[in-house]
Amino acid sequence: MAARRVRAGVERALERRLGVDTAEHVYHEDLGVATENRVWHDPSAWLALRRALRRLTPTEDDVFVDYGSGLGRALLVAAELPFRRIIGVEVSEALNERARANISRKAGRARCNDVELVAADALEWDVPPDVTVAYLYCPFTGDVFDGVLARMLASIDEHPRPLRLVYNYPVEHERVLASGRVRLLDAISSVWPPGSLRAPEVILTYLALPCDASLADEYIARFPRRLRRGRHWLGPYRPHFVLEKPARLGGVVLDAESKS
Ligand SMILES: C[S@@+](CC[C@H](N)C(=O)[O-])C[C@H]1O[C@@H](n2cnc3c(N)ncnc32)[C@H](O)[C@@H]1O
Repeated sequence: MAARRVRAGVERALERRLGVDTAEHVYHEDLGVATENRVWHDPSAWLALRRALRRLTPTEDDVFVDYGSGLGRALLVAAELPFRRIIGVEVSEALNERARANISRKAGRARCNDVELVAADALEWDVPPDVTVAYLYCPFTGDVFDGVLARMLASIDEHPRPLRLVYNYPVEHERVLASGRVRLLDAISSVWPPGSLRAPEVILTYLALPCDASLADEYIARFPRRLRRGRHWLGPYRPHFVLEKPARLGGVVLDAESKS
């Protein structure tokens, strides 16, 4: 509880210092946007997000996309790193407008100034052939998740390249594994101070593999795993997650335990 209060204080202080407004929970019901298999706006935690993206050691050859970019927090963190370009895909144009304002207001030097915001359903969005890092903070579930993942895999088959998926609060981890087309590279705690790697408070990074086996081997050699041995979540993984909306919107909406 005390750690949660400290975390909330740190988040508020960071927002003030950066001059941005990305902390709000925003619900699709209030925006007149359909809700099925879509998760509302809740921002990634600043510090864990920074840590996860820095661990990728991106270069100017990398292009970053945030699936479900919301108020733009992940885009702001990505812009601190030397990505060639950054794309946010967000189903709500109202959120995109606020993200645009955050990007223009943010204090401090950005290392990447090429940030594009696309208003689209990720399920219908064509993955640009140069995207190499895809970030997802639990933006969607179920069939939508499967459809988006299938589009990413089709994109690397058509335009072979290493593509890393950074999945924060990975409730659909088993769907990722079921694709048979990924290798888990890294896992860090998504809370501060970093706790154990208890699901779902983890950020998992996977390498998406092309269907060409020799190319897949080449990419695997290029991105060594950073996993430590003996972590329990590497075995059978049950996120046991619960997503909660306010009571006026129905309270608990999704629970992997009761689904299975
Ligand atoms: C949990 S928030 C993450 C916000 C941001 N990525 C971050 O890390 O701070 C999920 C976001 O995904 C968006 N979203 C949900 N379903 C989507 C879809 N099918 N296509 C595009 N965006 C979607 C929501 O509107 C919301 O802004």
